[in-house]
Amino acid sequence: MRARVVVDPDFCVGEIDRRLYGSFVEHMGRCVYGGVFEPDHPLADESGLRRDVIELTRELGVSVVRYPGGNFVSGYRWEDGVGPVAGRPTRLDLAWKSVETNAFGLHEFVDWTRRAQVEPMLAVNLGTRGVQEAADLVEYANHPSGTELSERRRRNGSPDPFGVKLWCLGNEMDGPWQVGQKSAEEYGALAAEAGKAMKLVDPTIQLVACGSSGRGMSTFGAWERTVLSRAYDVVDYISLHAYYEPHAGDLASFLASPADMDAFIGDVVATCDHVKAVRRSDKPMMLSFDEWNVWHQTDYHDQPERDWEHAPRLIEDTYSVADAVVVGGFLIALLSHADRVTVACQAQLVNIIAPIRTEPGGPAWRQTIFHPFALASRYGTGRSLHLSVDAPLLDTDRYGRVPALQAAAAFDDGQLSLFLVNRSIDEPIDLSVALRGMGEDISIAEHRFIADADVHAGNSADHPDRVVPRRGTARLDGNTLQATVPPVSFSVIVLTTRGGHH
Ligand code: AHR
Repeated sequence: MRARVVVDPDFCVGEIDRRLYGSFVEHMGRCVYGGVFEPDHPLADESGLRRDVIELTRELGVSVVRYPGGNFVSGYRWEDGVGPVAGRPTRLDLAWKSVETNAFGLHEFVDWTRRAQVEPMLAVNLGTRGVQEAADLVEYANHPSGTELSERRRRNGSPDPFGVKLWCLGNEMDGPWQVGQKSAEEYGALAAEAGKAMKLVDPTIQLVACGSSGRGMSTFGAWERTVLSRAYDVVDYISLHAYYEPHAGDLASFLASPADMDAFIGDVVATCDHVKAVRRSDKPMMLSFDEWNVWHQTDYHDQPERDWEHAPRLIEDTYSVADAVVVGGFLIALLSHADRVTVACQAQLVNIIAPIRTEPGGPAWRQTIFHPFALASRYGTGRSLHLSVDAPLLDTDRYGRVPALQAAAAFDDGQLSLFLVNRSIDEPIDLSVALRGMGEDISIAEHRFIADADVHAGNSADHPDRVVPRRGTARLDGNTLQATVPPVSFSVIVLTTRGGHH
């Protein structure tokens, strides 16, 4: 197959917000306990944080981390997780039928974010709790001093405010699985009032309202319209969540699933803009895609119900080469919408459907999906560019007809990074990229790709580097880039230029 791409740094989608490379730490399974926090581990620091996980988080290039849930937050009392650890209550976590010891809470999380050099993003409980508790948490976290809550934070070891800027107003509040599920009218009214109180405490914060918990929900679209009609003026973002998985014998559809993510984003942008128009508002609503990933959900359908364990092994997916390619496709979809999607969080960071896996007392390693994320966060900076892509079309059962080549580009201070996915199961693509407006002095700085003769290959504790990015052989012919892109692959090609007018 052949494909042709035209790139010109003048054609800009928007600035890429670093928050596009976010992740998510939930009190679920072994994400917190045994993931980021394991006091008995030989590599734990004096606070019980695993140093190996901190190092991998930095290497991954994560920008912002959402916490403490997820479904967990809808029954969470944030006060349980602050103050002397010995006095913290052990509680039932109804979301995951687990026991929560509260040994890890807000201070420990903020401490971890500082060490991991990421920005904290907090969610308030709008399932079982309401306006007062949400405002209290903002006051506890962000008010400097002189009030009961801010002085409590100071007594608990943090004299300086945490300065948390990004806040989620609950989680997936339309879901029947959510403790405290609400109708769109109920949730929209609550989000507006909780958000108002939170911004009265700290006007510098930014708020994310819950969108539908998925594009497949029967209320999708109407939910966003109703919630935003109530809360438009107070919130800054609406959330999107999406998980995809391979279905037996249908790799072609799985590889096309980023096209569904792309369409999902388009639908939510349209809905936001409809509400904006009705309200004659000047304010564009931004999108926070704060849960996305591959999740092999059908693997768990026959599992017995868990019964009140502490930190059980839940949804610890082992990822394959094909999964990594699809994750690369999701990153391309997010980059292509960088003008409206300015926060995104891969769910989750450690052990739970995660790029990083750990064993208790043992190693931490990079799953296959670690690699496309690390490459995108490293090279996907600056401005996202519009591309002209001319590629053959492939038919898929689930997502219809999609281009065989998925592509995005980032341009940053003379550096052009191309991100490419070949969705074909068996055919390479001979790619030629016309480089316009980049001057004469162009060179290839990097070409890495993820592909393997075995698309099911993955990494494990014993073989942590079975799948790693390989070096490619892209070449330049004047102002044309030539590369062969293998089937089922994710590639990054980085070009630098000293010429041109950019
Ligand atoms: O990430 C796992 C779970 O998926 C989250 O807790 C929830 O928000 C979503 O349904």
